Parts: sequence; structure tokens; C-alpha cells
Amino acid sequence: MEVKKILILFSLSFISAISNEIDENLKSFPADFEFGTSTASYQIEGAWNEGGKGWSMWDYVARARPEAIRDGSNADIACNSYHLYKRDIEMLKELGVDNYRLSIAWPRILPYGRPDYVNPEGIAYYNAVIDELLANGITPFVTMYHWDLPQNLNEQGGWITDEIVDWFGDYARVLYQHFGDRVKNWLTLNEPYVHCFFGYGRGSHAPLRTSPGVEFYECGRNILLANARAYHIYDEEFRAAQGGKVGLVISMEWVLPLTDSDDDVQGALDYAAYHIDHYMHPIFSEEGNFPQIVIDRVAEASANQGLNASRLRPFAQEQIDYMKGTADFLGLNHYSSKYVYRNSSVEGRYDVPSVEDDIHVVTYQPPSWPSHGFIYEYAPGLYNLLMYLKDQYNNPVVYITENGFSSDTGLVDDGRVQYMRNYMRSVVDAVADGANVKGYFAWSLMDNFEWSFGYTLRFGMYQVDMDDPDRTRTPRKSALVYKEILRSRVIDYSYDPDPYAALPDAAVAYYAPVMLNLIVLLFNLLM
Ligand code: NOJ
Repeated sequence: MEVKKILILFSLSFISAISNEIDENLKSFPADFEFGTSTASYQIEGAWNEGGKGWSMWDYVARARPEAIRDGSNADIACNSYHLYKRDIEMLKELGVDNYRLSIAWPRILPYGRPDYVNPEGIAYYNAVIDELLANGITPFVTMYHWDLPQNLNEQGGWITDEIVDWFGDYARVLYQHFGDRVKNWLTLNEPYVHCFFGYGRGSHAPLRTSPGVEFYECGRNILLANARAYHIYDEEFRAAQGGKVGLVISMEWVLPLTDSDDDVQGALDYAAYHIDHYMHPIFSEEGNFPQIVIDRVAEASANQGLNASRLRPFAQEQIDYMKGTADFLGLNHYSSKYVYRNSSVEGRYDVPSVEDDIHVVTYQPPSWPSHGFIYEYAPGLYNLLMYLKDQYNNPVVYITENGFSSDTGLVDDGRVQYMRNYMRSVVDAVADGANVKGYFAWSLMDNFEWSFGYTLRFGMYQVDMDDPDRTRTPRKSALVYKEILRSRVIDYSYDPDPYAALPDAAVAYYAPVMLNLIVLLFNLLM
């Protein structure tokens, strides 16, 4: 009897060891989890001066300051998606995605930025793209603004003039009017932190302004108000008839203290307050407004710098109320994590005034994290971030609107495959632990113009031959792996497809000799 029990227990523990292992490998996405890929207008469309389009501020930089782009390139043609969008949608079909996140170029719709003239060719182009997506069963998620501001509006102050809130609202209204019958998922603006930091703080993105302590904050403030304006316009004028959802895209890094010293822990909290809560808190918290820690810190630093007002201009209560709750869902862009520490080496390290000086930490990414370009792989960061958002912001609906890894050209992109699998695994785990994540978009469908890095960093699951006038697109290994995950809803680390075998030429090379042998055999038989 005892022996029998021991045997049963032994076999049960054996079975449970196996089944744990199987569970781990076959952890799957919920049945209603949605998958997609993302792109952005300036990075893929090309046709910079075709179809009645006006200049964006990036078109201006490409002409006036080409040295701002690492390889001196520009996006005049980029992936030529203005002409090749049907091929893009074919690729989406090949992958088997549910959703596609694209952006609309503001100057293609309103060449001068204001709605007194709406460009019919721009409307026709996006109508064609949206219709083609829907005809293929793919749901469009449309970003209204992914950094290509009409140059005309840039010359009038761009994101650092308060008037942009009206300009953006008027533009959003035009989009709802023309596309809202079919587009049900809107994203107002992409990545306030990155846009304001690199565009208005560090001067490496259009409009190349360098005011990290003042304009950086003004830009973020206006973006939050512009988002709220577009949201309220939808609510008041379109929601009842169109029944869609309006969110925005916020980029976030996960942050870890380098040691458990009080300084490092506080440094990590401060970094998170500036990078995550600065944009989340005004919209997703119950109290609204910028996080108090950021308000206090910038006010104190400004006073110490002899200024008689904070560089972070306060919101009026009316504005705080106006911004609260102005997103039906969060679009989360996440790529990397950082360690931070705070010690005497921070003193004198950064420009004064600047947001870096205000945060007052040093950041660090360990060489042990796999990296390429500016992306460092640390997948637990995504899990922790999703849990943080769940706990701090009452578990909002989240779509991961970007996540991805850069690589050199080449079809065997094992670094990207590993990165995607590990990060998607973090998503599965976070969902299992209660995070309200509804979907995942890989950045990016294909190689494209990576802003100040030009074409030196490739983020595509499809390789694009930028030297080929046809801009031929070819699936990398990551495309095949992603396709299999979407099909099976499981992240199978042992799946190892050969991207070359999937090529049409390879198929010819493989089957031609077989066919020839068959013909010879047949011929011999008949003779
Ligand atoms: C964020 C941006 O939204 C996108 O435009 C960019 O290409 C990727 N991250 C990669 O840097």
C-alpha cells in the first residue's frame, strides 16, 4: 500500500513537473488578445511633395539641415508607401495581424496646417488605405500626429505656442469628419516626452530647438492640452454617431535603482515621475495635474536659478479638470529600461536649466543587456511597467502600440526574434497577473526612416531594400516567428524558421532540380 502511494505521488510530481514545463512553454495569449504592427507617415510614405501635400517640419530639416541626419538621408521617398501601400497591406495579411497602426501626415490633409483648405488628394489617399485595410479584415488604429507638423505651423511657434491647442483640435475634427465613419480607434499624439525632449530640448529632431529647461516643458504642456481638446471634440461632436475610441501614445522606460541606497531609490522614483507620470498623471489619475513631485522640484530649481516663476507653467484648475480622463485607452510605447543612481557625480553634469538637471540622476544600462543602436533588452522591465500602470492608474486599458529592436540589414535577425519573444512573454505574464492589456503592435512592419539615425538603424520585420527603386520588401526571420505566434497564440522558443527558404527565388532553386528529375524519369519511363 505504502509503496503504491509513493509511486502515485512520485508519478504525480513527475507529471506536474512536465506539465509546469509545458505550461511555461505553451503560455498563450488570451483568445481575444489583438496583434498588429505599427508605422508612421513620415517614416514610410515618401511622396514628400506629391498629391498636394504641404511641407512638414521634417521636410524642412531634410533640406535646410541635412547634417542633422546621421547618414545625410531623408524620407523624401522612404518606403514609398504612398505608392506601395497595397503591398504593405499584403504583408499585414501575410503576418495575419488583426490591427495596423498607421499615422496621418497632417500636411497631406491640411497643407498649410489650418482647415481653411482641405487637400482632396490627401483625403483620397487615406481613404484608399483605410478601405484596403478594412477590405482585408484589418482594423486601422490611426495616429493623428506622429511628429510631422506642417512647417507653416512650426514657423508660427509649433508646439511651444498655446495656439497649437486650437490648431490641433481643428485638424482632429477634419479627421473625424472624413474618416470617423470607418476609423474607430484613434490615437491623438505620439510620445510627448520623446517629441518634446529631442525636438525642443536637445535639438536632434525637428524642429531642432535646444531649450531643455523651458521649451521642453511648454511642449509637453501643450501636447496634453491638445490631446484633451481632440478628445472633447470627439465626445461632443462625433462619439454618439461614430462610437469609436480615442487614446494617446505615451512612451515609457522602466527604471531601476542601481543600489538600494535611499538616494538611488529616490532617484528612480523621480525619474519615473518625470518620464512616466508627467504625462500619465494629468490624464489617468483621479486628481489630475502634473505629479506634485515634478511641480515642486521644477519650482524649487527655478527659484534657485533666480527665476520669478517656475519653468513648468502651472495649469489652471479648469485646465486640470479639462484634461482628466481624456483617453479611452493608453497606447504604450516601450523599448528599454534604465538603472539610475544619484551621487555627487550628478553635480555639474547637466546643462542648467534642463530637465536632466531637474531630475538629477545618472542613468546606466549594463553591457550584459543585449543591445543594438539605442535599444537595450530587459524584458522584465515591460512586466514591471505594466504592473506599475495597473497599480498606480486603476488598471487602464492598454494597447502596446510599439515595441521592437533594431538590427543591421540581413534576414536572419536573431537579436530581434529573441527580444520580441522575451517581451511578449512579459506581456503574457502581466495579462495573467491582471494587467488590462488588450493588444500588442510590433514596431515595425518594415525598415523605415529612423529620424536622426536615417536608415542606419533598421526596425523592420520586413527588410526594405532602400537602394532598389521598387523598395522591395522581404520578410526577415522575425516576420515568420511573429506570424507563427499570431497563428498559434503561443511563444514557442524552439521554432526556428529559415527566412531564405521562404523566398520565391529559394523555392525555385529548391524545386527546379526536383521537377527536372521527375521529367527525366517520366521521359525514361515512356521511352
Ligand atoms: C518611437 C517612435 O514613435 C518611432 O517613430 C520610432 O521609429 C521608434 N520609437 C524607434 O525608435
